[in-house]
Amino acid sequence: MKKITTETLLEISRWIEVELKDTHLLSFVIPNPDQKNNRGFKIWVNLAELHFCKLLTPQKIDKNFVELRFQKLNQESSFHSAFIENKEEKYGTESIFFTINKNEEPTFLHAYKKALEAVNVQNRKHILNLGINKGDEFELIQQLLDSPTFDKIIFSGVDHSSSALSYARERFPKDNLQFYKKDINSIKALALKKADLIISIGTLQSPSINYKLFLMSLVQEHLTYDGAFILGFPNSRWIDGELIYGAKAPNYPYSEMSLLYNDVIFAKKYLQQKKFRVTITGREYIFLTATRIGI
Ligand SMILES: C[S@@+](CC[C@H](N)C(=O)[O-])C[C@H]1O[C@@H](n2cnc3c(N)ncnc32)[C@H](O)[C@@H]1O
Repeated sequence: MKKITTETLLEISRWIEVELKDTHLLSFVIPNPDQKNNRGFKIWVNLAELHFCKLLTPQKIDKNFVELRFQKLNQESSFHSAFIENKEEKYGTESIFFTINKNEEPTFLHAYKKALEAVNVQNRKHILNLGINKGDEFELIQQLLDSPTFDKIIFSGVDHSSSALSYARERFPKDNLQFYKKDINSIKALALKKADLIISIGTLQSPSINYKLFLMSLVQEHLTYDGAFILGFPNSRWIDGELIYGAKAPNYPYSEMSLLYNDVIFAKKYLQQKKFRVTITGREYIFLTATRIGI
């Protein structure tokens, strides 16, 4: 088994790339990351991710060396490439997406929690979520607030996936949470009261939505004057159950972020014109948080 000692990171990375062409599980020995002056553990975690691998639990060989195993992710096992005949059910209960729990991903959880704190979620009266799916975004709010505060807020979730909505309704069997099956483009037809917080994560960039026009209509028609936004833009792909950094872009074999930056900056500029204070945070998911200035 290869023992890495003085090789540069470039040499190691090239060696891994070559080896992974012929194997799904690559084992090698490294200097113990816990010892001073050796490469730290985070370097190996990042290296595994960059090579589309999962880092399996390291095995200690002796006090100076540790065995690492990189297991190749199955890149076919991704909802991004899965074909589903009924487009409305692309993210439904039978999809790979449904098995994902974003609230258990530290970088997602941290950024979303900070965004909820920045908009003072506990003071909001009506929270509208577009692309609610199975309700994960409401779940974190429930975990953050005490019950009396959570129960006082009206939650409206909109999605076009019947199966995801049925799941969400069973998960939150409370009168203050309502789930609506509707094409987001036609939310006007629901005649909902204006919301004072609109949340939409991983949804507005969907090909079925005219992003820029729709965002403007949200500000003008669906948000109260003192209302706030939390928009989440994926800067990652889910592959074989792992959240891999970097936006997926059409026509590129690697992650490319032009579309992501364009959309985030459009929202930032538009909302600033409308007198919102806007912050951009996050990592695997970029969060745009907007609150009205002077409120
Ligand atoms: C990528 S998922 C994100 C779900 C959830 N916000 C999350 O981050 O886990 C996008 C969601 O938006 C819904 N969706 C996409 N386009 C839609 C449309 N035009 N009308 C209604 N729902 C839509 C999908 O069914 C799906 O549940």
